Amino acid sequence: MKLSNRLQTLHSLVNNDYQHIWDCCCDHGFLGVQLLADNKAPHIHFVDIVPSLMSELESKLVRYFPQSEMTRQKVTSQWQVYCTDVSAIPLEKHTGKHLVIIAGVGGDLTQKLVDDIHRQHPDKTIDFLLCPVHQQFELRSHLKSLKFGLIDEVLIEENRRYYEILLVSNNRGERVDTSTVSEISNVGDKIWTPNNDEQIKVSQQYKAKTLQHYLRIHQGQEKQGKPSQVKHIIDAYQSVQP
Ligand SMILES: C[S@@+](CC[C@H](N)C(=O)[O-])C[C@H]1O[C@@H](n2cnc3c(N)ncnc32)[C@H](O)[C@@H]1O
Repeated sequence: MKLSNRLQTLHSLVNNDYQHIWDCCCDHGFLGVQLLADNKAPHIHFVDIVPSLMSELESKLVRYFPQSEMTRQKVTSQWQVYCTDVSAIPLEKHTGKHLVIIAGVGGDLTQKLVDDIHRQHPDKTIDFLLCPVHQQFELRSHLKSLKFGLIDEVLIEENRRYYEILLVSNNRGERVDTSTVSEISNVGDKIWTPNNDEQIKVSQQYKAKTLQHYLRIHQGQEKQGKPSQVKHIIDAYQSVQP
């Protein structure tokens, strides 16, 4: 199954350093299945809260990725399916390096799920690969306040929608490769330094669309005689130069 551009980009940001990859809010599990097929980690965990999705996915995995040694072929990774709220994933039961992927849900929910996981496992070093739908500024600001570090960030366009993809770590100090982890910017850094014409177009359009969104909110608040809650966000996006 061919992945969408967004899922392919997420896939390309996953290296082979992890013992456990959690495909959270996985829906049909397309991304996790590709990670499994590519043996990206010894353990791939699929998590979603909808029972019918998870039983359908489990049947597919049993069929195409059987776990017994007798039937296993090229795929050596183990998989597990969880029908649960992402806040409750049992990271404590597993040792080794974890990557938690949360993609395709709102920025507010992404923020809550990251918070819940981080709070329950303060001593574990966890990398998070995030692709929120909306509220990117708010999510970035929150991750920054938690002192998460940035490993990589990418901006993509798919079907005239723009997605920021963030690879972050909850524990900058504990990482061996601290040189590769930097401070998270509220609006992003690398996403505004495009290196080809297509990326220049994408970042310019994304800036314009994001500004329009916050200007609408600003005008609404002005009309109601309320103080603007988003003026600092507008100023921050206005200052970026794609
Ligand atoms: C649009 S899909 C995203 C699929 C895939 N991650 C992607 O990026 O294309 C959102 C999924 O999140 C799941 N979901 C929403 N809130 C959740 C939660 N708190 N815990 C687990 N799954 C959740 C929904 O059931 C749905 O299947």
